[in-house]
Amino acid sequence: MRTLTPLAWPDVPAAPPRTMTAVVFDEFGPPEVLHPAPVDTPVPGAGEVLVRVAAVCVGRFLDVALRAGRHPVKPALPHVPGVEHAGTVAAVGEGVSAIEVGQHVAVWPVLGCGECEHCGVGRSEACARLRIAGVHAHGAYAEYTVVPTAAVWPIPAGSDLDPATAAGVALAGPVAMNQLRQAGLRPGDWVLVQGAASALGATTAELARHLGARVIGTSRAAWKRERLTERGLDAVLDPTDPGFVDEVRTLTGGAGIAVAVDDLGEPDIFARTTDVLAPCGALVSSGAFLGGRVPLDLARLYTLNQRVLGVRTGNAASARALWEEVGRGFRPVVDRSFPLAEAAAAHRFLEADENMGRVVLTLPTD
Ligand SMILES: NC(=O)c1ccc[n+]([C@@H]2O[C@H](COP(=O)([O-])OP(=O)(O)OC[C@H]3O[C@@H](n4cnc5c(N)ncnc54)[C@H](OP(=O)(O)O)[C@@H]3O)[C@@H](O)[C@H]2O)c1
Ligand SMILES: [Zn+2]
Repeated sequence: MRTLTPLAWPDVPAAPPRTMTAVVFDEFGPPEVLHPAPVDTPVPGAGEVLVRVAAVCVGRFLDVALRAGRHPVKPALPHVPGVEHAGTVAAVGEGVSAIEVGQHVAVWPVLGCGECEHCGVGRSEACARLRIAGVHAHGAYAEYTVVPTAAVWPIPAGSDLDPATAAGVALAGPVAMNQLRQAGLRPGDWVLVQGAASALGATTAELARHLGARVIGTSRAAWKRERLTERGLDAVLDPTDPGFVDEVRTLTGGAGIAVAVDDLGEPDIFARTTDVLAPCGALVSSGAFLGGRVPLDLARLYTLNQRVLGVRTGNAASARALWEEVGRGFRPVVDRSFPLAEAAAAHRFLEADENMGRVVLTLPTD
């Protein structure tokens, strides 16, 4: 099993530099469009904090698809990508009292408007004005970021969480928790995670296991299935194997899957997922990068009292619940880190499907 050397949390200078290095792109295209550039260090306004970044994740959709011009949002160029990250608070803006300079934090900068009916009932994931730093605004492929306090999650006191692991859980964790909560997961349930070696899939599979579920994970690659088996999943299968459906039925004693997670959107894999879904089961999706047009047998769905539900992202309640579980020992799967200057190599690595869990970019911490 690959293990990462824990990264140190950075110290912060008394006065942040006026300019900093970021990795930007000035045109949409292949990984090579990413390059370092000097930019102004942002200054925190009221209710905001300045974070000295130690680690930032590379996401399939929010980073790779955005850079390639395949994301529905086309940010103004040049753009600094990078969404979920972790680091040390370097300065705080006016009116910030709950967060202090020097604190170690994870940042999940996916925020609802705070005013609409969905935000009003704690379902900011349904907010039509959801904004994501790194997508709609400059992000964390940079030495410093400025983020609102609502995006900041202090690392639990006494925790051994390092910045790469904290960044690895910052977004995927609240999303995975929301998936499992919305699906109504109960301890002992059989959970199927399609694409369980992916950054989000690995987090969901590990979290379900941590919460007491019996978890079946899938990958098309034999080496990833080996790694998933080493991590202690109850079973690991190839989703393209013709015997997949029978095997799941056997594993679950004929009962089927209570909670299935499919963030892929590949028609054949989705069809097999619905074939093994138990009566009253829930199939949850938070992604569909392989297309998303999938077959659904409505007659089967209603007669078996099943649900298919979308979960766009996490919300404050799922993030709070997630961080409680981090305090109880839950950890995401962080596969590999690259220095920020090698962001293009990290993008290529992800595009080649070579990752098993989260990929992070790291910055110097001294
Ligand atoms: N809503 C959110 O907040 C959120 C957050 C993160 C991710 N996501 C979504 O989750 C999905 C995965 O993203 P990620 O960042 O976790 O991905 P990732 O780490 O890049 O992993 C990609 C996954 O896709 C699978 N895959 C690739 N091509 C495939 C094919 N032709 N057929 C079947 N499987 C294939 C790979 O499976 P193998 O193991 O078989 O190679 C791997 O598990 C995406 O749809 C993304 O948009 C959503
Ligand atoms: Zn809103």
